[in-house]
Amino acid sequence: MRSFSVVAAASAMLQAAHATDVFAHFMVQNAYAYDVDQWKKDMSSAQQMGIDGFAMNWVPPECQSGLSWVPDRIDDAFTAAEQMGFKLMHSFDMSYSDCYIYWNQTYMADAISKYSGSSAAYRWNSNMLVSTYGGDQVDQYGNEFFQGLKDNMKGYNPISLAPALTTYSLGAWDNPQSSASKLMSDYPSIDGYLNWQAWPLDSDVNMTTTSDEAFKSALKSNGKSGPYIMAVSPWQYKDLNNGNPLDAWVAYSDMLLAKRFESLTGDNAFQPDIIELLTWNDFCESHYLRDLPDQHDTSAKDYVELGDMGAYVWGQNHAPWRIIAKYYIHWMKFGAPPAITMDQVIFWHRIHPRGAICSGGSSTGIRNNNYPDDAVFAWALVKDQSTISMSIGSNQYWTFDADASGPAMGMVPFPLDISFDGAKPEVSIMRNGQTIEHAQSAQPVSSYCSYENFNPVVNLVGQGINDGL
Ligand SMILES: *[C@@H]1O[C@H](CO)[C@@H](O)[C@H](O)[C@H]1NC(C)=O
Ligand SMILES: *[C@@H]1O[C@H](CO)[C@@H](O)[C@H](O)[C@H]1NC(C)=O
Repeated sequence: MRSFSVVAAASAMLQAAHATDVFAHFMVQNAYAYDVDQWKKDMSSAQQMGIDGFAMNWVPPECQSGLSWVPDRIDDAFTAAEQMGFKLMHSFDMSYSDCYIYWNQTYMADAISKYSGSSAAYRWNSNMLVSTYGGDQVDQYGNEFFQGLKDNMKGYNPISLAPALTTYSLGAWDNPQSSASKLMSDYPSIDGYLNWQAWPLDSDVNMTTTSDEAFKSALKSNGKSGPYIMAVSPWQYKDLNNGNPLDAWVAYSDMLLAKRFESLTGDNAFQPDIIELLTWNDFCESHYLRDLPDQHDTSAKDYVELGDMGAYVWGQNHAPWRIIAKYYIHWMKFGAPPAITMDQVIFWHRIHPRGAICSGGSSTGIRNNNYPDDAVFAWALVKDQSTISMSIGSNQYWTFDADASGPAMGMVPFPLDISFDGAKPEVSIMRNGQTIEHAQSAQPVSSYCSYENFNPVVNLVGQGINDGL
């Protein structure tokens, strides 16, 4: 008896400390060239920042011609994940209707159950967890479709279903309570929920967790077993450049990543069951955390074709953002801020002022293009009292203080006289009157732009990304 209770107490403590699992949304369409080794590299890089698994987003393979390779890549991903101690869950993309080919319950049930014996299959309450992007805006799906899928699988491989039903997440921006209640009455089939809304919806404000709280408590008060999955994202900008203003937008994301993570740490932390980072590799919406593949090496195992959208992706490295995510994820998982052992300042900026008229892209047709501040932003994590100095062009030596008590944020605005040739932002870490670290951005900010670009470039000054991650 006695040893039993010790074990029970220990496992309860472990659960409290690890209550939040962290997933990243993975676009399988961008894994065309992947082999098992490449999957392992991505998983290792994700694990280094505290990610437990990938939510695998795919469309019906027959929907877009030439996607028949997708199930094979998912096989490889499971093989890699089993070796890496990494988790995977299916996230069926149910937002497509253009191709008139839809997911059906038999195919989905088979695709899920294929991995029911895998150690990499992520489970919630012992059921395989299944998620989606959408399922509420296409007539072929909806509550009955989900209920049918679950009923079919109940006898041999019961699933927990936590879809992302975007109508309700969008609705929750203005009416969190009523949207959460409506979700519960419209979708009695669901067990949990992924609230996709990780960005301020067409508004120039910082996010709060009001909608997250509404969905989480609605699940609970309706006796759902969960999980509530909260979405966290660093940025949002997309331009399909097709003349449709609905397909070209930017969200107010200047300090989004750090501020959203702040709501998950500290005394008043909001506690979702799972966090889903949006995303690991969705390049076209500018919210990737993964390293950029080599643009030119077509034989690389992570090669992707980006077409026109490459105009705002190539050169816009985001990797140092993973240092920010890693810090807060560790804090969240272990219940205390991690000790700061290095000097690192992450700084990011767009590469032209928001009012620049560019020769390519939708340029002035970008929705919300007056939201982002024309500025270089920085997030500092230093092991000792420091002054962080930021300069761009004629705006020299804007400073803020940072110390080992936790992250500090600062910024320097773009100067009004930014030239055609531009200026590279520079950031220094100074301590005891000496510059101990200094770096220039990988890219200048200039008034010239061949393609409008609201996707930032992210830099690191200080100890290396490999040490830091
Ligand atoms: C179900 O979907 C799969 C994959 O798209 C397809 O091959 C199959 O024909 C579909 N089955 C039915 C009955 O529609
Ligand atoms: C968001 O928060 C940051 C940092 O607290 C602040 O500087 C900024 O002005 C806020 N943005 C808006 C639009 O209120």
